[in-house]
Amino acid sequence: MQAEIDRRRLLIGLPAAMAGLTLVSDPPQAQEAGGSSTLVAYFSRSGNTRVIALHVRRIRQAALFEIEPAIPFPEDYEQTVAQARRDIDEGHLPELAQTVEDISRYDTIYLGLPIWGMTAPSVVRAFLRAHDLSGKILHPFITHGGYGLGDSMDIIRTFAPRADVQPPFSMEADQERKTMEQVRGWLSA
Ligand SMILES: Cc1cc2nc3c(=O)[nH]c(=O)nc-3n(C[C@H](O)[C@H](O)[C@H](O)COP(=O)(O)O)c2cc1C
Repeated sequence: MQAEIDRRRLLIGLPAAMAGLTLVSDPPQAQEAGGSSTLVAYFSRSGNTRVIALHVRRIRQAALFEIEPAIPFPEDYEQTVAQARRDIDEGHLPELAQTVEDISRYDTIYLGLPIWGMTAPSVVRAFLRAHDLSGKILHPFITHGGYGLGDSMDIIRTFAPRADVQPPFSMEADQERKTMEQVRGWLSA
């Protein structure tokens, strides 16, 4: 409930400070030290990439930022697949729910994303386009459902042309489609 109210405040454009929000959550140590120079920014629909993001955040004592579209993706899986495909085909970059305040604070960025349609989701492209990542060290971490990274690394390099993009960490992870099919079988739906 509170999160929803906070989100609405953000959407109507109140500055985060006025809404009492920290859009990027710093680890306590970093706040005490006056700021962290490492950021973990991630997009995750079903949670696989988020689990990695939280581990990276803890191990690197980094700040955390969730990449989200201003208009959330549909809850329905098939509708999300269709929208993802349309966005990529049309080159549409969705508006972001929020951007990182003062990206210049960070010199190293861990970027987490799932593979959608054998590529990087449009909202991740929008994140890269919206921030000046010149000279920053970018460590991608990528989850996929078993079909590999597609052209996602080329896309990351294209949308962050001045970042120093490092080799990715990648992992096969559960597919929501398989989970959905098993649950449908169980419920005969
Ligand atoms: C819209 C959509 C498209 C997907 N396309 C692919 C794909 O092309 N190749 C693949 O291996 N996995 C694909 N997947 C599976 C996800 O990449 C995989 O489950 C990922 O770990 C999900 O991460 P998340 O839980 O952080 O959202 C797709 C999932 C969704 C929702």
